[in-house]
Amino acid sequence: MSISERKLDHIRICLNESVEAEISAGFEDVVLVHRALPEVDAERISLETSFLGRRVSMPLFIAAMTGGHAEAEKINRNLAVAAQELNIPLGVGSQRAGIEHRELVESFAVARKHAPDAYLIANLGAVQFCRGFTSREAQRAVEMIEADAIALHLNPLQEAVQREGDTQFAGVLERISEVCDALDVPVIVKETGAGICAEDAARLEEAGVSAIDVGGAGGTSFAAVESYRGTEEVARRFLSWGIPTVVSLVECARSVSVPVFATGGVRSGVDVAKALALGARACGIALPLLKEAVRGAEGVVRVLRTYERELRVAMFLTGSGDVEALSSSRVVVLGRCREWLSARGMLG
Ligand SMILES: Cc1cc2nc3c(=O)[nH]c(=O)nc-3n(C[C@H](O)[C@H](O)[C@H](O)COP(=O)(O)O)c2cc1C
Repeated sequence: MSISERKLDHIRICLNESVEAEISAGFEDVVLVHRALPEVDAERISLETSFLGRRVSMPLFIAAMTGGHAEAEKINRNLAVAAQELNIPLGVGSQRAGIEHRELVESFAVARKHAPDAYLIANLGAVQFCRGFTSREAQRAVEMIEADAIALHLNPLQEAVQREGDTQFAGVLERISEVCDALDVPVIVKETGAGICAEDAARLEEAGVSAIDVGGAGGTSFAAVESYRGTEEVARRFLSWGIPTVVSLVECARSVSVPVFATGGVRSGVDVAKALALGARACGIALPLLKEAVRGAEGVVRVLRTYERELRVAMFLTGSGDVEALSSSRVVVLGRCREWLSARGMLG
């Protein structure tokens, strides 16, 4: 099966099957302390923030999903229209198909056409740099969409349970470091649904990455996606594998000083508020936008506006006049996440 067909398979499965992890992202364990004396006027609350040096309207971004197929072109166009309208960053899906097949470039380049001013994030799998890609391919991915940054994704779980998976990860950190050295744009490293632990976050920072997206467990599960593609027995054993987004976020935020983003099961503006209070600089959303993006940009905008309204209410109720105030607001971690973090020595 070609990469283009495989990518379309992923989209089809995500649209029609249940692909969320059997483990929770952990937001139910996070409580923002309610303030009966908010001391802010709700209508004056500002959601504006800086995303890797760019002013954006809110601490939300559209996480990497697609490209590499005619159907994907439509999805990227609709996501781009929404990103442009809302002034939020947008990540395209893995551009390997566009690097290897010139005729597929347009399905990615469409993002820049429809989002001339948005912060755009290119995307390639980090493992490809262990299999022949060099910083030249990374540079081509950036140029393909005139990107402001590039995300290298780590997906060892998906590769391991997929029949045609690439599992030669030996040397991957060194390859990531080479890309960081060679490129002029920021390099973000992201997981894709199994999270990043404190130790790996520290090694990534040391390697020179500009930001880490935890891509934690609890949202879209690529074990679930792959289980519908013929590797059912093995893949289904990994439906609850990984570090929940909340745990991974706390681990990463405590161990590095580069910005940390939270993606994976972020399902409301309240989740966004909780993530920011735990140290995230912004949150990424993928699956909830996909169903809308196949139909048009309006639905994508509507979903994101709902996140925005919920975030605004949560900010009001925590007495946070802006994103900076929210990031230092009082937060309590209970239950399984607390136990997990305590077992890892990450509390206190
Ligand atoms: C259909 C689909 C395709 C995806 N493709 C990519 C990809 O090509 N590159 C990547 O870095 N992440 C990819 N992801 C992962 C997302 O960027 C995100 O990390 C993950 O879905 C968790 O967010 P969610 O729970 O909001 O969906 C994809 C997700 C979905 C749903």
